Amino acid sequence: MNYHDLLNILELILLAAVFVFLFRFVFMNYASKVRKPLAWTQAVRRGKLSRELIKAERKYTDKIRFYNLWLQTERLRKDGIEGSFAELGVYKGETARLMHLCAPEKILHLFDTFEGFPATDLKDESGKAAAYTTQHFADTGLEKVKRYLGEHPEIIYHQGHFPESAKGMDNEKFALVSLDADLHKPTKAGLEFFYPRLSPGGVILIHDYNADWPELMKAVDTFCNSIPESLVPVPDADSTVMIVK
Ligand SMILES: C[S@@+](CC[C@H](N)C(=O)[O-])C[C@H]1O[C@@H](n2cnc3c(N)ncnc32)[C@H](O)[C@@H]1O
Repeated sequence: MNYHDLLNILELILLAAVFVFLFRFVFMNYASKVRKPLAWTQAVRRGKLSRELIKAERKYTDKIRFYNLWLQTERLRKDGIEGSFAELGVYKGETARLMHLCAPEKILHLFDTFEGFPATDLKDESGKAAAYTTQHFADTGLEKVKRYLGEHPEIIYHQGHFPESAKGMDNEKFALVSLDADLHKPTKAGLEFFYPRLSPGGVILIHDYNADWPELMKAVDTFCNSIPESLVPVPDADSTVMIVK
């Protein structure tokens, strides 16, 4: 075997190693499939779900987040848990739409500036949020979100800075709340406002409870030290946690 043959063999081995590495990378990151919960498959088969909800499930990339939300709404319905739904941090309305499709009969309160982060909330942030400006999530608008979600008397919009935008809602009861505001201040304010108004059995879903958002985690941890419930982790892509009262 001469020097060139040896080089060719080495080249082949290297190519094979790169191929195996790439195949594993693509397979493990993009080809892994989440099996559908049996409850979902049966509900589809029995014609219990709307066409829009089934279509939304097909398109939504974080399947675990989707199934968790749907299963929670099913549980609340089955157990007759009273109260409205709400989301703090709506942006263009993607999650809000899922919440409405899962439970169209529920009043859904939507809280956002609908023009990006308020400057006062951006102070003292760290992690990914330290790089946020008032321009982030500003490419939306109340009218745009209304068009996206369609005309539904059950959907009520509260435009402005939270918690001031929740003024006059002291006597409201909630069954399901999605907190998705990314930052410390609105997350803290959201927990302080919604938790006392959450019905027994109701649930608060807090998105992005992970090391990329340390100030959000601090707000959640500090609040949870003052309540009897434990945080329930959800294995979705961005580490949602739940408080079930
Ligand atoms: C990550 S986005 C929400 C994503 C959204 N849930 C979705 O489904 O695409 C965060 C949103 O929180 C809003 N937000 C953050 N702090 C707020 C506050 N104090 N008052 C009102 N809205 C706030 C921002 O305007 C932004 O639209």
